Amino acid sequence: MSNNKAKFVTFEGGEGVGKSTQIVLFSEFLSSKGIENIVTREPGGTYGAEFLRSAFLSGEYEWDVVSELMLVMAARRDHMVHKILPTLDSGVWVLCDRFIDSSVVYQGVLRGMPEQWVVDMHRVAGMYLEPDLTIILSVSAKVAMQRKFECAREKLNRFDSMSEEKHETVCAAYKKICTNNQHRCAFIDGFGSALDVAELVVSAANLLLTLK
Ligand code: TYD
Repeated sequence: MSNNKAKFVTFEGGEGVGKSTQIVLFSEFLSSKGIENIVTREPGGTYGAEFLRSAFLSGEYEWDVVSELMLVMAARRDHMVHKILPTLDSGVWVLCDRFIDSSVVYQGVLRGMPEQWVVDMHRVAGMYLEPDLTIILSVSAKVAMQRKFECAREKLNRFDSMSEEKHETVCAAYKKICTNNQHRCAFIDGFGSALDVAELVVSAANLLLTLK
């Protein structure tokens, strides 16, 4: 699966699809093969970005969508400069829970910013980093909700109260990203057991990363 260059791998999908479980399992798989890696997340991953994450997700204030995009971009810039790029430069793989595709889906498709603007704003700011591999996980809205209740998070953030219709919109938006970026994206059904899904993730990684 590897040449010498450290890879940037992102995990995407709607809420409750199992990203956080799968990213850890993939990290463990890589470590078992002797591939050094870190797991990080967005918005967040550095002190500055986690600080902005709480402003973004608290639900105490209704940001307009452009401000919202700028907040996640500011957090992303900090994360890239202080963590993602130096880590890749040092030869260590970076596994990131959400990245630019999340902005395209949430600020773009869901909140109505033209999707191309979202990408272009990253390009203008010199922040368009294309992942080597993007694992997009998907489950039905019903399964996602069940998992969420099982998780019993203490605080549900404002994005967690998404309706079923929104879940389907998010899923369709990710499908479109996958279709348009087949060189890096794998769309994976997250319905099975964690270990079954982890096998699908490894197969997709083998397929897409050996070509790079
Ligand atoms: P989080 O609790 O980490 O949810 P999840 O486990 O689903 O990743 O909250 C992250 C939320 O932030 C999620 O609902 C998607 C949203 N988000 C955006 O709207 N834009 C972005 O660019 C990113 C990275 C996340």
